[in-house]
Amino acid sequence: MRTETRLLHALPHDPLTGAVSVPIYQTSTFEQEGPGINKGFDYSRTNNPTRQAFEQLLAELEGGTRGIAFSSGLAAVDAVLKLLSAGDEIIAVDDIYGGTYRALHTIYNWLGITVKHVDTSDPGNVLEAITPKTKLVWLETPTNPTLKVSDIRAIASISKASGALLLVDNTFGSPVAQQPLKLGADIVLHSITKYIAGHSDVIGGGIVVRDQELGERIKYIQNATGAVLGPQDSWLAIRGAQTLHLRYERISRSAQQVAEFLQQHPAVAGVNYPGLRTHPNHLVARSQSAAFGGVISFWLKDDREGAAVQLVKHTRLFTLAESLGGVKSLLCVPARMTHASVPREARIAAGIHDSLVRISIGLEHPDDLVEDLAGAISAAENCSVEQTLHA
Ligand SMILES: Cc1ncc(COP(=O)(O)O)c(C=O)c1O
Repeated sequence: MRTETRLLHALPHDPLTGAVSVPIYQTSTFEQEGPGINKGFDYSRTNNPTRQAFEQLLAELEGGTRGIAFSSGLAAVDAVLKLLSAGDEIIAVDDIYGGTYRALHTIYNWLGITVKHVDTSDPGNVLEAITPKTKLVWLETPTNPTLKVSDIRAIASISKASGALLLVDNTFGSPVAQQPLKLGADIVLHSITKYIAGHSDVIGGGIVVRDQELGERIKYIQNATGAVLGPQDSWLAIRGAQTLHLRYERISRSAQQVAEFLQQHPAVAGVNYPGLRTHPNHLVARSQSAAFGGVISFWLKDDREGAAVQLVKHTRLFTLAESLGGVKSLLCVPARMTHASVPREARIAAGIHDSLVRISIGLEHPDDLVEDLAGAISAAENCSVEQTLHA
């Protein structure tokens, strides 16, 4: 069955009533027939039918055996990190999402876990950094916000040979375009908040694994610590996921057009988008993804502090907001917003300069988006030195 058909038929209709939409089981607990005798559900932190339906859909989408839905992407990050113990090492992509960076470098450093960041777009860097203490290799591909692409197959074989688990944060890739478990990863992680739910109305996270025992361990951690996705949000995530295929395809096509427009614009110094032939890992991206998604980042030639801020103030259709993957286009200045929690030197080393602008393409007509950006870039160019300084 093709992806879009699987997406729509993965969940059975409600056996009780025939409802074609999964019911929202808004209940905290379930009546038991006798002590310890129930219909598979006893308490909604442990299991809830609406969440279970979304988890089945997520596992199906990623080609795994088990999906686990969390109250946020970061709650999913946290549950995976709880698999480790003091003394363990993690190798992580250098421009990792700011919130994951913060969890690694505060909470998990305090608990005795160390993190080495390397540019994973060259698998040789992972090979060089990996040691017997490395228990987890953490990729985002493409990365947030510089859209670096890492070769999942190559890094999976390096991790496996060393006995480390490979996690791929597939939030940007989306399971309809890229399925890391099939390329050798052990754990796939999602901020459901983004493409999967897709309408900027839910905060949620997800994990999918192939290995049953690993799934049991993560499920145990979730039940023991409690960060579950509620029934209403699970339903919204199911509803969003049913159109993921269409949205991601259209968004990727529009993003390609916008990236090509930006690339030839004289005020733009560089564009990061895996769909561009000039992207350093375009061929790797093509070998592991069917589409390249809706996130683009670019540097302005004008690197005065505040030039990027002036640009984002002058768009009409791109809303200035954190997040991505929704039906409406958004934009942000990562250095001041999503990645403000990353220390400045680490940010600059990862290419997250003050003039970097990240955009998330939505479902608007791509010609309107191009016109909006063209207008905002020229408005930023025309700003005085004072205006940029006080931006
Ligand atoms: C790549 C990536 N992973 C994880 C997260 C965290 O997800 P959430 O905001 O749902 O907690 C984000 C959020 O932006 C993200 O971009």
